[in-house]
Amino acid sequence: MVSSSSLSLLALLVSLSANILAAPHPSSPVSLSMNLKRRAPEARSADDINAWAHAHKLNVEAKYGNAHKTGKRSSGQNLIVNQKADSSFFGSVAVGTPPVAYDVILDTGSADLWLASSTCTDSACDGIPTFKSSSSSSFQNKSTEFSITYGSGAAAGSLGEDVVQMAGFSVSNQVFGVCDQVSDGLLNSPVSGLLGLAFQTIASSGASPLWETLASSGAWDQPLMAFQLTRFNNDSQVQELEPGGTFTMGATNTSLYTGDIDYNDIPDNEESYWLQTVSSITSQGNAITISSGSSALAAIDTGTTLIGGPADAVAEIYANIPDAEAGTGQLDGYYIYPCSTNVNVTMAFGGKSWAISNADFQAEQLNENTCMGAFFSLSTGDNAPAWIVGDTFLKNVYSVFRYNPASVGFATLSSESLAMNGVSAAVPSATIGSVATVSATASAGARDANNGAASMLSLGPTLSLLVFSMTMLLLRLV
Ligand SMILES: *[C@@H]1O[C@H](CO)[C@@H](O)[C@H](O)[C@H]1NC(C)=O
Ligand SMILES: *[C@@H]1O[C@H](CO)[C@@H](O)[C@H](O)[C@H]1NC(C)=O
Ligand SMILES: *[C@@H]1O[C@H](CO)[C@@H](O)[C@H](O)[C@H]1NC(C)=O
Ligand SMILES: *[C@@H]1O[C@H](CO)[C@@H](O)[C@H](O)[C@H]1NC(C)=O
Repeated sequence: MVSSSSLSLLALLVSLSANILAAPHPSSPVSLSMNLKRRAPEARSADDINAWAHAHKLNVEAKYGNAHKTGKRSSGQNLIVNQKADSSFFGSVAVGTPPVAYDVILDTGSADLWLASSTCTDSACDGIPTFKSSSSSSFQNKSTEFSITYGSGAAAGSLGEDVVQMAGFSVSNQVFGVCDQVSDGLLNSPVSGLLGLAFQTIASSGASPLWETLASSGAWDQPLMAFQLTRFNNDSQVQELEPGGTFTMGATNTSLYTGDIDYNDIPDNEESYWLQTVSSITSQGNAITISSGSSALAAIDTGTTLIGGPADAVAEIYANIPDAEAGTGQLDGYYIYPCSTNVNVTMAFGGKSWAISNADFQAEQLNENTCMGAFFSLSTGDNAPAWIVGDTFLKNVYSVFRYNPASVGFATLSSESLAMNGVSAAVPSATIGSVATVSATASAGARDANNGAASMLSLGPTLSLLVFSMTMLLLRLV
């Protein structure tokens, strides 16, 4: 968290550079990287935090409320960006012919890809790279309406189909939403949209998600994708954008974790969200009562900042923390506690138990002595999991999302991974290229995908703090 005198850490975008350069490895697997971006810091008031916390809870609840053959198998890596002190994590996809790179939230809690359209005249689209379908010779309009509703607004447009590349892979006919209506504050520059990484069964578009097309077609060395997410929320010098860690498609990166990956199957083969069953939670060394059945189901969600769970269990977590109190007003559902308390919460999903660092538990500092914890009470709809396990947890583990057998795995972060936490880095160049194409119409082998369409944006100073993690706002209209 921040120092007691300065409440905050949130920051603003100053500039972004997203040059793309192809760097195909001479032999597979191909390793690719993209730009990391930095922003200047900005203070955030307690009121802002309260308002944000309130919106976060409502929005997570809203979110959960109510091919072709490939050539050779491969794997690839996309370096990601940590936005606003761990609020969200985004990567880059390249879309169209010639390919243009867009920053997209990497969201294992949803299954649609969508981008803001160049025809969007809403203020929400000001200053962000938008997709111009007429600039892509391979774009095909599906002339089907698409909409996603958020806790505080909506994005709508039409479905299209185009070449989409990421981490060295290419899908020639990826269906995605091109949104010309975007509510204020839904996109947090430089992010242009969202890449859903959950299963097709929950896609609003009905389309196969990029990752699932690649995994099911055998494009990957291994049918899995993995994340290492950085922590900056206890860094008082945090910038708006910091290095976010790594997203690997088709393999795990053994330099980023140690020991075995502890996999647990998705219960009952319900491939929708990346579901797990919460088997144990401890707080300050004491076991919390976990109900069985549906109230133990959890979605492992890179697109949610904090951790939401059933009210009873969350209350029990805080009952072990001296002087913790339920929040009121906009902090309803959250808890506050003395910042001086070192909190140790662990979670298990059938296998090993994983500790959440005090730095992550301490989600916000409200004033000199009072902090807000990362667990909040959540009421999801009947068809949604009771727990939403977001980045608060995921920053503490190497996480693996395995297509077959459908499961989620966690492993201990390596010292190399841990060494990236809180370490600002220069903005590297984005890298993209196609290695394993998924369609007969896409080019074979590696090719350059040099473009600068998304580079050098200069952005205005104000972004809504209420929406500093846009994926928290996603509500699916299934
Ligand atoms: C593993 O991750 C590290 C750190 O991001 C990177 O330098 C390395 O190239 C990656 N290895 C592979 C095989 O992708
Ligand atoms: C697709 O076609 C529809 C009309 O069917 C039009 O309204 C929409 O703007 C088009 N979308 C794009 C991205 O060109
Ligand atoms: C956190 O709690 C767990 C479970 O009681 C315990 O095994 C672990 O040693 C504790 N970690 C720290 C750093 O206190
Ligand atoms: C942030 O938290 C981590 C994990 O608890 C710790 O290792 C690191 O030293 C902390 N950084 C700062 C700047 O306090």
